[in-house]
Amino acid sequence: MKIYKAHILFTKEKDHFDVIENGYLAVADGCVVGIATDVSAFQAPEAEVIDFGDRLLIPAMNDIHVHAPQYRNLGIAMDLELLPWLANYTFPEETRYADPGYAERMYRRFIYDLWRHGTMRASVFATVHLDSTLRLMDLFREAGMGALVGKVNMNRNCPEALCETLAQAESACTALVQAYGGPDGLVRPIITPRFIPSCTPELLQLCGTLAQRHHLPVQSHLSENTDEIALVKQLEPESRNYGDAYHRYGLFGQTPTIMAHCVWTAGEELQLMQQNGVMVAHCPTSNFNVSSGMAPVRTFLDAGIPVGLASDISGGHDLSIFRVMVYAIQVSKMHYQRDHAKPFLSLSEAFWLATKSGGSVFGRVGSFEPGYEFDALVIDDADLNHDHYTLLHRLERFIYLGDDRHITHRFCRGQEIPAPHYE
Ligand code: GUN
Ligand code: FE
Repeated sequence: MKIYKAHILFTKEKDHFDVIENGYLAVADGCVVGIATDVSAFQAPEAEVIDFGDRLLIPAMNDIHVHAPQYRNLGIAMDLELLPWLANYTFPEETRYADPGYAERMYRRFIYDLWRHGTMRASVFATVHLDSTLRLMDLFREAGMGALVGKVNMNRNCPEALCETLAQAESACTALVQAYGGPDGLVRPIITPRFIPSCTPELLQLCGTLAQRHHLPVQSHLSENTDEIALVKQLEPESRNYGDAYHRYGLFGQTPTIMAHCVWTAGEELQLMQQNGVMVAHCPTSNFNVSSGMAPVRTFLDAGIPVGLASDISGGHDLSIFRVMVYAIQVSKMHYQRDHAKPFLSLSEAFWLATKSGGSVFGRVGSFEPGYEFDALVIDDADLNHDHYTLLHRLERFIYLGDDRHITHRFCRGQEIPAPHYE
């Protein structure tokens, strides 16, 4: 057993923080045993106590939607909407991942940056290429960080070089399950049809079959941008709405499902998400950058639809989930200005979305309740705390003003995670 002493802050419930000043948190077998204000409560006199002094100890960040191969495009081409942005910048960059050497160089840098920003778990899109997707999974495993990794499925409306055959899609899935299919693995595959415009009905059907056959979760994009939604209507005239198009192929909650964006989700699509327990990956920076709109997060929360936060690199420009929390709060304030019946997100709600709610994608992750996997960050905010703020205001200042330089230790599943290597 190891015991960590610090000021401990986390969100068991979305409406308030649990704050334990000078608390002790005990960890055994990678999981939280409990929290106490007196170390003798653990009755473990032989346990090592690691004292972080005046620092903050918080759950690590979870990014539930991010494109690893778009890393090089970070912060460019932000003057296009979704469909031309994909065609002119995103797809050309993704074709380069046919080369596993290029993929490895870029993926190493990507994982280092996730680590730097305190994100210990991510649900990731790779590309259509099996070899470089396996490299990405190997690199996550090497780093000791948690990931759901999707080899992207796509076979229409894209460059020839990014189109796969149905046979390739099926054999790649088998290879990924063989390599990384264990149920408790920190790195696991996730079925990843890119979005309806990129996949023929036959490929969508195959994705649904594979998800059910191998008990794999699903991730994709939903109702992000108005031009995209119009295109989906054309391509899937028989579906009642965009979500229903996924549902018909077994890709909408038949196994655990994350849908990114849901900016324009309402009515029957919202009801279907609610019935099926489909999770929203809220990507406010991306929604601003490619001019998609503002997702109605309060409406999702009121409907009991699960929500987590996501960077959506490189639609989003910032890998920091702390910064994404700030944007999520700001978007919710714009909604509130239009409709006072939709209260804006509180700090504890934004924090809960990034930790316990988003973490649920990866198991018992994102809280410090007993039995949760110990994923944590130690924050040294001494240079931000020059006026004796309360612990909650210290955390708020770090979220709004802090950066990776304030993160002194990172833990995933109980292990301290050193900086991943990259050239
Ligand atoms: N829809 C389909 N592919 C993508 C992508 O790569 N990024 C975003 N933001 N939306 C998408
Ligand atoms: Fe995306």
